[in-house]
Amino acid sequence: MSAPSSQPGDAVLHRKIAEQLSQHYEVVKTQHVRDLFARDAQRFERFSVEIPGLLLDYSKNRITTETMSLLADLAREANIEGWRDRLFGGEKINTTENRAVLHVALRNRSNAPVITDGEDVMPPVNAVLDKMGLFAARVRGGEWLGYSGQVITDVVNIGIGGSDLGPQMVYQALKPYRHERLRVHYMSNVDGAHVLDVLDGLNPATTLFIIASKTFTTQETLTNAQAVRRWFLRAAGDEAYIAQHFVAVSTNTDAVRAFGIDPANMFEFWDWVGGRYSFWSAIGLSIVLAVGMGRFTDLLAGGHAMDQHFQQAPLEQNMPVILALLGVWYNNFFGAESHVVLPYDHDLRSLPAYLQQADMESNGKSVDRTHTAVKYQTGPVIWGATGINGQHAFYQLIHQGTKLIPADFIVSLQPHETVGEQHDILMANFLAQTEALMCGRTLAETRAVMQAEGRADDETIAHKVFAGNHPSNAIMLDKLTPHTLGMLVALYEHKIFVQGIIWNLNSYDQWGVELGKQLAKTILPELTAVEDTLAHDGSTNALIQRYRDTKK
Ligand code: F6P
Repeated sequence: MSAPSSQPGDAVLHRKIAEQLSQHYEVVKTQHVRDLFARDAQRFERFSVEIPGLLLDYSKNRITTETMSLLADLAREANIEGWRDRLFGGEKINTTENRAVLHVALRNRSNAPVITDGEDVMPPVNAVLDKMGLFAARVRGGEWLGYSGQVITDVVNIGIGGSDLGPQMVYQALKPYRHERLRVHYMSNVDGAHVLDVLDGLNPATTLFIIASKTFTTQETLTNAQAVRRWFLRAAGDEAYIAQHFVAVSTNTDAVRAFGIDPANMFEFWDWVGGRYSFWSAIGLSIVLAVGMGRFTDLLAGGHAMDQHFQQAPLEQNMPVILALLGVWYNNFFGAESHVVLPYDHDLRSLPAYLQQADMESNGKSVDRTHTAVKYQTGPVIWGATGINGQHAFYQLIHQGTKLIPADFIVSLQPHETVGEQHDILMANFLAQTEALMCGRTLAETRAVMQAEGRADDETIAHKVFAGNHPSNAIMLDKLTPHTLGMLVALYEHKIFVQGIIWNLNSYDQWGVELGKQLAKTILPELTAVEDTLAHDGSTNALIQRYRDTKK
């Protein structure tokens, strides 16, 4: 399949409005946002939206009122509102797997019925939440004891992908709310180094293991779980103790039982919860253990608040829709290939990795809903790191490189902890970076600065000029709390959904991860096989042989 083009307005998405957007792009691409601000004193008010706890300022983007109006028309033409109703209505919009997509039901604090396959999913959702709450209360309260009668001090979540990245990101983000006795650790990599790293210093008698796997067939998770089980039994000595130290989170009761875990110690979820959308479900058990059911409910309520905003706000005022449309604007018209996420909050340091899976596994596709290869660009590369660290590493390229990289800056207005004037410094840097990216610095301004410093300019001055016009969004949380975190994640989830609809993708399958898994299964026995007939390509054959030789 040849790579889709990324020409500006590449008959984007076969939408009628694309031609108008393409013509409009030709005008906007020559304009500088700095000039747009100079001409419009209301630009910030015009291009910002707020719901309690979260402000989105998108005024530093390469847009005009007409841009946003045309993009809203694109959303209407793609029938975002209709698809949104189908999502919340429990329709099986994950057509390649014949599944509904109902992570929104997991945080449906209104408790209004959500029907799929003729059944209201809310009673089972609430039942599992209750079970999680009761279990967590016993562990947190010191009632649930290990095999030697001691309280649990450590929890290890064994899972990968959505069964790891989501709970781990939330656990980090909610650090100020954690239980003082319980520490949670995350084990994902099928690498002895990671297993030993996590187990190092843990006491089997006071450690609880959560085996978190939607399918309960994932090789990495099950291999690690078996290794940990052996480690545990070496100390505990009796299989009867497994029940006190191992619980499972899964949709697959049979596989959990086959592993040796009593289904009574299993927390269920359902096939209509995608792995990368699953920390709202029982996959969030490690979060509940760490911060308690009350805080977890606040997290769900934050997600629900964003769901309501997404369902009720007009497209022009709708945060997820706005973020999605801006992404399409840069991806399909400006030819941007990546999107950077820059939290100015240490506790959000895992958000970029979390969003990488959420976005790239959802919209990294090249076949559309009609099973046809697309002729336009779909999901961008998502990357990022904490902003401050990034400033001293990769921002150089964003400021002065040849690529256009739209950025999301995420800040919390109030910190949980202040050390001296640290938070002011953090905020000053966030503000300075978004301003510098947008305004840049002209040759004349650079010359004036140098002269004011008593320095003569020479030919190196060209290196000190900043073109600016680099777009960014600022997402400001009042404070990083369970509620605002829930809103933030749901904001991105719905952004991804809207983009998937515009690109006519099924954002809820992930067939692209299968081929590698199948090949690994074929190759694994070959690594130790004695006969040397290998039927791969020359490179793979040679590498396998090299590994065999080393093992000898
Ligand atoms: O291989 C990709 C994937 O299927 C992800 O979508 C998922 O989050 C991860 O693996 C883990 O899957 P499971 O929870 O079934 O172990």
